[in-house]
Amino acid sequence: MKYIGSKILETDHLILRPTQEEDLKILWEILLDENVSKYYLTSKINKDWEEEKKWQYKKLNHALDKDIFQWSVVLKSENRCIGQVSCQKIEGNNDDSVRDVGWFLDPRFQGHGYGSEAAKKMLDYMFNDVEIRKIETSAATANASSWKIMEKLGFHRTGEIKKCKYTMLPEPVDCYCYEITSEEYMK
Ligand SMILES: CC(C)(COP(=O)(O)OP(=O)(O)OC[C@H]1O[C@@H](n2cnc3c(N)ncnc32)[C@H](O)[C@@H]1OP(=O)(O)O)[C@@H](O)C(=O)NCCC(=O)NCCS
Repeated sequence: MKYIGSKILETDHLILRPTQEEDLKILWEILLDENVSKYYLTSKINKDWEEEKKWQYKKLNHALDKDIFQWSVVLKSENRCIGQVSCQKIEGNNDDSVRDVGWFLDPRFQGHGYGSEAAKKMLDYMFNDVEIRKIETSAATANASSWKIMEKLGFHRTGEIKKCKYTMLPEPVDCYCYEITSEEYMK
């Protein structure tokens, strides 16, 4: 695996770039939307920006680190940050080349194919350039728009359904588990 960080990537409609200061509040506001946070697993999120800011700026200091693979998604036609995609380490797994993925978009920009477009570009980069070995991830069974992206990109369901605890929901929810190896992606 190559630690080459979150290089700027481009698709027909989007630019994927490392997070910048101007994105922080926008991304925080998107994550506060219940339609996003009910499916996107986050650590605790502060509803008060002045409190949240401290953590967000700490993270911003690492946006250009070579072992960070996380991009703000910018819609070219509006020059506007509309969400984020990421490919992160799996807690408790010492093998960095087996990773998880995450994505979320501002609800106003969902359903236009941008999620699929951003996810594909990130996966192309992670498998071809960063040379990761495998992705292991999950999505709520009710969250078809996310697991459809996984299936379109060639991920396969492991058959296991696990309970995930989402920060803002009181009870764990059923999630499908998905995987894809480098060999499968490159086929
Ligand atoms: C998941 C998410 C990033 C998808 O982005 P998007 O731009 O809306 O997705 P796309 O428009 O590319 O659609 C992806 C697929 O889901 C389908 N889809 C979209 N909305 C759907 C819905 N409500 N129900 C079922 N399928 C849906 C699309 O038709 C498409 O499939 P297709 O290409 O076979 O037609 C976005 O919905 C989101 O931010 N959700 C909240 C956060 C989240 O769930 N993150 C992932 C956690 S695992």
